[in-house]
Amino acid sequence: MTAGQVPPAASESRGSRGFDARVAHPARVYDYWLGGKDNFEADRIAGEATIAAYPAIQASARANRAFLARSVRYLAAGAGIRQFLDIGTGLPTANNTHEVAQSVAPESRIVYVDNDPLVLSHARALLTSSPEGATAYLDADLRDTESILDLAAGTLDFARPVAIMLLAILHYIPDTGEAHRIVARLVDAVPSGSYLAISHAASDISPVEMAEMIRRMNEHLAEGNHVGRPRQVVARFFDGLELVEPGVVKVTQWRPASAVEAGGPTSLWGGVARKP
Ligand SMILES: C[S@@+](CC[C@H](N)C(=O)[O-])C[C@H]1O[C@@H](n2cnc3c(N)ncnc32)[C@H](O)[C@@H]1O
Repeated sequence: MTAGQVPPAASESRGSRGFDARVAHPARVYDYWLGGKDNFEADRIAGEATIAAYPAIQASARANRAFLARSVRYLAAGAGIRQFLDIGTGLPTANNTHEVAQSVAPESRIVYVDNDPLVLSHARALLTSSPEGATAYLDADLRDTESILDLAAGTLDFARPVAIMLLAILHYIPDTGEAHRIVARLVDAVPSGSYLAISHAASDISPVEMAEMIRRMNEHLAEGNHVGRPRQVVARFFDGLELVEPGVVKVTQWRPASAVEAGGPTSLWGGVARKP
């Protein structure tokens, strides 16, 4: 896929639920927390209700974006990864995966996947690839792993290492067994030398505030499917893989750029691991 082209796969619309601006959506509430403009009244109401329950949620969302940038830079510069499958992309913002990866290696190829119709409508902003590399966008649901793998193969070579990015998305799969099966299927599809990066809402960081934040979020989301998980359960998503140092930690403490970053608030666990 060359720069700026919307891939044919994007028009297949396998993932999007119907568009309803009256109901909060995860991508748009997250955009509100990040100070973006791509949200509606329902998202702002959900955003304010969740901020009131857990005031650090905006800083935590920013910390998650910083984790994305640091982990992609590590994968591109430190691990030599040139292919990224970023599922649960979110609305375009600063430091999107292809921008970070291609700033290190312009030939990097990125497939974005999300099931939010508003993200689909903003997909062109995610398709500004360097001429040497490629970006594509798939409108698909994380649970539909076979479609994702099938369509992503149009841009990514699954015979070569791929970084699977699942940042702040697995906490929208409330059934832990299903979430594990999804991760296992994706990891199974990539060769040795591939990587898995995860960030995930915690139930054991600021547990009282987080429980109330998630309860309020679910009051507003159509699917009411947000869950938090403790560190040990998040760590199990990496079973069979080699965790990169420092392991599964608060996202602020994963290779932080400074002591200030390491000490910032977060409600997410994060980690990166290599497939042996
Ligand atoms: C909190 S945002 C995270 C965005 C980005 N990964 C980041 O970490 O900055 C979660 C994203 O996952 C998407 N999402 C949630 N459930 C999904 C599903 N079942 N399939 C595909 N995308 C999903 C939402 O639409 C949203 O864009």
